[in-house]
Amino acid sequence: MKRLLITGGSGYLGWRLTQMATASGEWETFPTFLANRIDHPNGLRLDLRDRAATETVTASLRPEVIIHQAVSPRNSEHIAAMIPAARHIMQAAAEIGARLIHVSTDMIWDGTRPPYGDDSPPSPLTPYAEAKAAIENMIADEMPQTLIVRPSLIYGFDPIDKQTGWIVSGIRRSETVRLFTDELRCPIWVDTLATALLELADSDHSGRLNIAGRPLNRWDFGMKMLAALGIEPGPNVIRSTIAESGLARPADLTMDTSKARQWLRTPLISVDEAAVRHQRQAAR
Ligand SMILES: NC(=O)c1ccc[n+]([C@@H]2O[C@H](COP(=O)([O-])OP(=O)(O)OC[C@H]3O[C@@H](n4cnc5c(N)ncnc54)[C@H](OP(=O)(O)O)[C@@H]3O)[C@@H](O)[C@H]2O)c1
Repeated sequence: MKRLLITGGSGYLGWRLTQMATASGEWETFPTFLANRIDHPNGLRLDLRDRAATETVTASLRPEVIIHQAVSPRNSEHIAAMIPAARHIMQAAAEIGARLIHVSTDMIWDGTRPPYGDDSPPSPLTPYAEAKAAIENMIADEMPQTLIVRPSLIYGFDPIDKQTGWIVSGIRRSETVRLFTDELRCPIWVDTLATALLELADSDHSGRLNIAGRPLNRWDFGMKMLAALGIEPGPNVIRSTIAESGLARPADLTMDTSKARQWLRTPLISVDEAAVRHQRQAAR
């Protein structure tokens, strides 16, 4: 079996990826965590801000493939850690000759010039997006054999993703939940993304690759998720717009995923199809 190191194995995507890689029987999987310990025989604590610790882990495990998706924008400390973490894992991968897959985001674009192709230049609006865009450029310059995967919103049903969790907890607390009709994203089911990443781990594709579902506005996406979860939105969930909110957010992040559809056997299914598949899995 080939060895696979997954940074951020305790995260939303990282844990699903870890479960699927382990269950496949094709990978000896090593998921890392930082603050949230995971229940996995090969789980290991790693702070990617520590270059020496990162190199020690990779030099001792010698993974053939590293999927780097750790560090999301939970707070400013996490955003500050993104670039050093990516630099350390890139250098460590280069030293042992491991294949590197880096997980980026659709947020690198400002949402004014859709549709965004794999090679559309970044136009970041937020500190998180700036860090992610800088990491993409650093990796493309210094380790061009890396595959940079750009997902859109990552969602799931069990456990539910953070964005949907925010809607559900707002409904339960009878708070007003505003869902924008002028904000378009291409949500991707966490199972689809994890399957695609494992497929790509076993390939030699490099460069930038958009992996996303079909465009949906936030209102329609929220309604579909609530329907799939069997939750009534109630009167507190209201249609709104970015313009009304006064927030500076990317409006239309429609992505061109034609290259991913050519490269992948994994189908990039819609939210409705994902909900049906999840229900079938749950019924088994
Ligand atoms: N969620 C989305 O909708 C979305 C959309 C597009 C792109 N992405 C990208 O997809 C990736 C995964 O996102 P996610 O939402 O699944 O993230 P997440 O649940 O917030 O998980 C983040 C992971 O990073 C780990 N981590 C944080 N700081 C670290 C450090 N200094 N060293 C090592 N590990 C560290 C965390 O470990 P502990 O929890 O153990 O501390 C956790 O495992 C991220 O790169 C994100 O930018 C996410």
